[in-house]
Amino acid sequence: MFSTVSRDSDMDLSQISRESSDFRIAFVGIASEGDSPKVVLCKSDKFVRIDFVQLNNFVKYLETSDGAIPLASVFIFSEHKEESLDLVERLRSRKQFCRTRVYLVSSAFGSRTLFGHSLDESDRFDIERVIDADQFNISDSLSIKSSLDLAIDAYQSLRCNPLMPDYYLDATFDSLFDWFESTRWDWSEIGNLSDIQKDLVTADDIEVLRESTIIEFGTLPGAHNFLREWADEYSFSSWALSWGAEESRHSLLQCRYLRSLGTNIRAKHAMYKRQPYPIGENHAGTLMMNIISECRAAEYYLRLANKTQEPVLKKIWKLLGQDEARHARAFFIFCKELCSADESNLLEAFKMAYVWLADRDGGVKHPAGHFFPHSTSADGLKGIEGGQQGMTDRADARVYAMCQKLAGDTSIDSPKELKRVVRDLMYV
Ligand SMILES: [Fe+2]
Ligand SMILES: [Fe+2]
Repeated sequence: MFSTVSRDSDMDLSQISRESSDFRIAFVGIASEGDSPKVVLCKSDKFVRIDFVQLNNFVKYLETSDGAIPLASVFIFSEHKEESLDLVERLRSRKQFCRTRVYLVSSAFGSRTLFGHSLDESDRFDIERVIDADQFNISDSLSIKSSLDLAIDAYQSLRCNPLMPDYYLDATFDSLFDWFESTRWDWSEIGNLSDIQKDLVTADDIEVLRESTIIEFGTLPGAHNFLREWADEYSFSSWALSWGAEESRHSLLQCRYLRSLGTNIRAKHAMYKRQPYPIGENHAGTLMMNIISECRAAEYYLRLANKTQEPVLKKIWKLLGQDEARHARAFFIFCKELCSADESNLLEAFKMAYVWLADRDGGVKHPAGHFFPHSTSADGLKGIEGGQQGMTDRADARVYAMCQKLAGDTSIDSPKELKRVVRDLMYV
């Protein structure tokens, strides 16, 4: 048995230490046979240690086996359903095995998948499948290797995000969804671009429109990076798709407005910002940077809406400003979830806040501009800010209000206070 499991490899697996394996798999209730390998090389180039465990030794195995080597999968061979379920319950009662994939192998209680069929307990115990023992040919090494490959892929797919809930709908994405969907503006609210009162559009309006359109192109790589940085979960990633869809409307709408005035934005400006930038090192830190971006963008658009005399443009900038305020709120909710779960995330969020809120003189005042110095619009925000005294102060006041809620500390209203909290958190 298993004699050809490692046939794709030229390596001598007998030289691989069991303790240096990447994963382990337990066959429970079945004995090792003569030439059974102790370590298998799976298709993802991971070494998998195979443990053969007696049924009455399984609990002890869970208690004493090496926790440093993840237990990717357990195959429980038993003809007694209650016995199998008892062992699975023992496994599931230990949090470190929550990602372990469980198969029951039996000829006594069927080979159908568990979902809605033979065992109601399937979901309760998170059992992947019942495998018919008659179909599970232990001497078919190729089939066994295929099962091991699947088990390792499954284990690695689950990653280890501590916020991962047991059930899909228990994620923050579900709780945000209705609010976010029901507050999205409809294109019919914009009115007709042919109704633009061109004589009311100033040269400043056009210049700011160009800049804000180009700045909005930076949200596309932002969406790309969210999916890369959050590859270990689905909740924020799912919301980020909605966020990205909304942001793509911001540049499109402003482009259309400009074209109706006879001004076209070159495609190259979108491409200058197309490549992904380095992903963040901490989710909470990245979210804080986006809270700041969105608060500032919201304030910029609302101020622009107040200033312009052209009614359609006023409407557009007002709607975009409301969007950015919604975005800031949603980023805050995801950030708070992280900070509530782990204080180290609060520290990273506040470090990021300090970087962007302190010493603003001469710096880039919108984080989105930081990653694309080659973009033609790198100085655009400074142009938008021109003559708008106090705009960034007002935006940052909203950021401080969110920081206060994150830390439960109403005294946080300045870079000095941010630094104090960072120091406190670093030396707790
Ligand atoms: Fe936007
Ligand atoms: Fe936004």
